[in-house]
Amino acid sequence: MLIIKNLAIEMAEACSRLHAMCDQTYWSSHEYEKLISRMQGVGCIDDKDVLRGFLLFQGIDDYIDVVYICVDPSFRRMKLGKRMMEHIFDKKRGADVFIEVNQGNIDALNFYYSLDFMLIGKRLNYYKDNAGSNDAMVLKRNRI
Ligand SMILES: CC(C)(COP(=O)(O)OP(=O)(O)OC[C@H]1O[C@@H](n2cnc3c(N)ncnc32)[C@H](O)[C@@H]1OP(=O)(O)O)[C@@H](O)C(=O)NCCC(=O)NCCS
Repeated sequence: MLIIKNLAIEMAEACSRLHAMCDQTYWSSHEYEKLISRMQGVGCIDDKDVLRGFLLFQGIDDYIDVVYICVDPSFRRMKLGKRMMEHIFDKKRGADVFIEVNQGNIDALNFYYSLDFMLIGKRLNYYKDNAGSNDAMVLKRNRI
């Protein structure tokens, strides 16, 4: 069984490790300690107490910015991501939710569209690497 609980500083190393499994660029444990201390987040923990997904966000009462979400590749398409997002929608009822995603991240775009996010703008050439540049898609989910 997987449970959702609030992120705590002690989970920084697990967040960094999981982020590294999901992305070529990721934040270190130390960076996660700082992020968790000044933002909010939830994690998805399995019955062996291993972190299988997490979501980091910041914002005030009527505005939430999702900073990062990821799910362990072996636990994808099992609704962990959806459960974590819905946890936030529920906890922050009345807030608009924003996220920026690389135009090339089709899996994530499909995930957000399935949760009623809408495209509201683009930051042109926002992501740059040796291969070139990609736009950031700015998505919004209206408050309930
Ligand atoms: C995006 C991500 C968090 C989704 O997590 P997940 O737990 O696998 O997603 P869920 O199982 O909750 O999916 C819910 C719905 O989203 C859509 N969806 C999710 N992943 C999808 C994919 N790879 N392709 C198409 N649709 C997808 C589907 O509609 C899915 O419902 P369904 O499985 O009944 O069809 C996960 O793929 C991930 O960690 N990606 C790498 C990190 C990343 O890119 N993060 C986003 C940074 S902006």
